Amino acid sequence: MRNKYFVWFMAAIAATGGLLFGFDSGVISGAIPFMQSDFSLSDSEIENVTTLGLLGAVLGAAFSGIISDKIGRKRVMLAAAIIFFTGAFGCGSASNLTNLMFARFCLGIAIGIASFSTPLYIAEISPAHIRGTLVSMFQLLITVGILAAFVSDSLISDNSNPACWRTMFYVGTVPAIILLVGLAFLPESPRWLISKGREKDARAILEKIEDPDVLESEIQRTQLAIKEEGEQMSFTQTFRKKWMIYPLMIATLIMFFQQAVGINTVIYYGPAIFLKAGFEGAEAAVMASVSIGVVNVLFTILSLFIIDKLGRRKLFFIGMSGMLVTLVLIGCSFLYGMGPYAVVGSMLLYIAFFAVSMGPLGWLIISEVFPTKVRGVGSSIGSLANWGFNALVVWTFFKMINAFTIFTGSDNAGTAYTFFVFAALTVIGMIWGKYFLPETKGVSLEQIEGHWKNGGKPNEL
Ligand code: BGC
Repeated sequence: MRNKYFVWFMAAIAATGGLLFGFDSGVISGAIPFMQSDFSLSDSEIENVTTLGLLGAVLGAAFSGIISDKIGRKRVMLAAAIIFFTGAFGCGSASNLTNLMFARFCLGIAIGIASFSTPLYIAEISPAHIRGTLVSMFQLLITVGILAAFVSDSLISDNSNPACWRTMFYVGTVPAIILLVGLAFLPESPRWLISKGREKDARAILEKIEDPDVLESEIQRTQLAIKEEGEQMSFTQTFRKKWMIYPLMIATLIMFFQQAVGINTVIYYGPAIFLKAGFEGAEAAVMASVSIGVVNVLFTILSLFIIDKLGRRKLFFIGMSGMLVTLVLIGCSFLYGMGPYAVVGSMLLYIAFFAVSMGPLGWLIISEVFPTKVRGVGSSIGSLANWGFNALVVWTFFKMINAFTIFTGSDNAGTAYTFFVFAALTVIGMIWGKYFLPETKGVSLEQIEGHWKNGGKPNEL
């Protein structure tokens, strides 16, 4: 490679987009208990603020594909950085609930754009032999971003200062500025330039990235790939093919179950749940969530090492069984009033099982299950499903707790039953997985495509 450091520098700057994605999704968790008392917000208002961010992400993810094909990857990332900055500043300085919701919606749009454009840009600028590593680091970066938000929230949280949540959001402006400044030094994606017929500009950039002896073959390979992509099926064509039913169902339902196990109630509402479990004061609750963030990062790293060895199905069943047991444990800790440490302990185990399995698996499966020609449309349907189901779970969490509380007459039982619902959904997920989750390990995309076209069943792959 001509300039190894240049590639790593470019990837590192672009990856700040992944960090921001994680940071700005996670930052709300520590802010919630303080925001709630500062603005006297009800649980359902908290749900609305959180969910609006996710709806923004749906919007950002839905349109960034089209826009980044039109105006280029770099400009889209620049727009994301500016929205990240404005959104973080807007959340921190919001004078009332409406402004807060609007600013959170903007932040969500930036998160959605980053979730799409960062991995795309990294994949397009990296030389073939390190592409896999650089791209799979993306999930890891999201978890590191979430951890960074938890740590920053915990350092800032201060029981004697109810307005401290504002500083938590302001911190998000710093990585946004780093991304903004860093982007000034980044070149446009050579692949995009080639797709626009700007081969000369692309060549100038590729000369800095690739070895001179592979430069020409790399340009030819890119031109060929772009031509093939031109033959991609459109959205409506995708839906008209009968054999597409399995891949579409698998991509949508793997994301449904990734969210239905309740992961983001822990990621976004962790401190709020710990307060319900009996923690004294928001400061301690926010601090406890740092351990959740650490375990999330560590077990995501573990999954990078074992995902290709164990295969998808085995990892799926290990993760789902572990989550089933630990969700029941969380529920029982509430039901029998076992105290905050039992809740935190079982949540740490729960997060470990999620991070090693469903976290990376969801994203991996949607990138593998579609035949080449519908990969673009297919994986965007998968990520939209991810954001959509995420929003649904997060929007209904406190509503479920309140409904069960009225039904059982006890706060603790209300929370316990809600986690039992997630446990029940995990069981349904396992039954679904038994019949419908394909083992894609070591199977080529052509084999998968042939399998669907020949009327093969998912679990026969
Ligand atoms: C999920 C996110 C979740 C994150 C936690 C991802 O795979 O899609 O919804 O917040 O994992 O690490």
